[in-house]
Amino acid sequence: MPKSMSKLPLKVVVTGAAGQIGYSLLPLLAGGKVFGPDQPICLAMLEIPRALEALNGVAMELADCAFPTLAETIATAKPEEAFAEADVAVLVGGFPRLAGMERKDLINKNTAIFKNMGENLEKYAKPSCKVLVVANPANTNCLVALSCCKRIPAKNFSCLTRLDHNRALAEIASKCKVPVNEVKNVVIWGNHSRTQYPDVDHGYVMKNGQKVTIREAVGESSYLDGEYIGKIQQRGAEIIKARKFSSALSAANAICDHLRTWLVTGTKAGEIVSMGVFSTGEHYGIQKGLIVSLPVTCTDGQYSVVDNLNVSDFAKEKILASVTELLQEAETMKAILNA
Ligand code: NAD
Ligand code: LMR
Repeated sequence: MPKSMSKLPLKVVVTGAAGQIGYSLLPLLAGGKVFGPDQPICLAMLEIPRALEALNGVAMELADCAFPTLAETIATAKPEEAFAEADVAVLVGGFPRLAGMERKDLINKNTAIFKNMGENLEKYAKPSCKVLVVANPANTNCLVALSCCKRIPAKNFSCLTRLDHNRALAEIASKCKVPVNEVKNVVIWGNHSRTQYPDVDHGYVMKNGQKVTIREAVGESSYLDGEYIGKIQQRGAEIIKARKFSSALSAANAICDHLRTWLVTGTKAGEIVSMGVFSTGEHYGIQKGLIVSLPVTCTDGQYSVVDNLNVSDFAKEKILASVTELLQEAETMKAILNA
């Protein structure tokens, strides 16, 4: 083995691996796009039994990619094989929202699945395992998993709102006609749902080498406080309408961004990203014990909530609406778990 590949393999579990997101995500993880070109990966892919045949096809394709970083592939329907000694778990598999299904029914179905995920993490994963929940309702599924897994600290659990964050950056870049990497520090607050609040008040755009606030660069408060918010909140639904499936390649890309920033590179000096994280009750008056999207910075594999942002009354009202929805989801989930 070349010296540059002498690290021990990192075991990464992806559940729902034969699904749409899995198909875009697995080559990125296996090919070194998150953990780098010198980090061997053991990729454990979990599916339900009836998707195993398709999963085996995906495993064959991964072998045919001949990725130097892919040290081992496990394709299984057995959680004990997938989660054993896992370093990182990306929980994508869940029950999809079917036509006519209410959010409560979706929570009902997924609470059972994520209770099981939490119990498997508890039994088999490393106590240091880092968990990212993607399946919807992402915040509440994450809360279910962490409440069924006491051995892994709450700080190791997160849910995906980086896709919303990326959508918010892209919309501002397009509005200001600048490259997307010249827009920084938007914040997604709350739930990964239509109540989320995409906040531009702390963000800026680089113009001629100078930082200009997003409000100044856009110059249209009515757009930023109206159409813009609705656009980001509805983007997922708009993609489902167009594709007939939910976003998959942009979700896979955001999963990679989330994991890379959190676990590998950290944030750059002065940079803020959005992550769904456990609320400790110490930030912005948000109740303890929910998974809430908040502004964070990351260093050495840990995130810290940025807690000194000046939040306007308009923003407070929007954040409260989303947190109220999260509280209601948490009540529904608790009733199901205690039934
Ligand atoms: P998909 O239906 O194509 O794939 C889901 C896969 O999960 C299926 O292959 C299914 O067999 C599997 N699965 C179901 N229950 C499982 C279980 N108990 N254990 C293991 N696997 C299981 O869906 P997709 O397009 O890949 O999306 C997956 C989830 O991600 C959905 O809930 C979707 O709403 C959500 N999503 C979230 C975001 C986000 O930003 N948080 C973005 C896009 C999609
Ligand atoms: C998205 O934001 O694209 C998805 O969460 C939408 C969905 O309901 O799957």
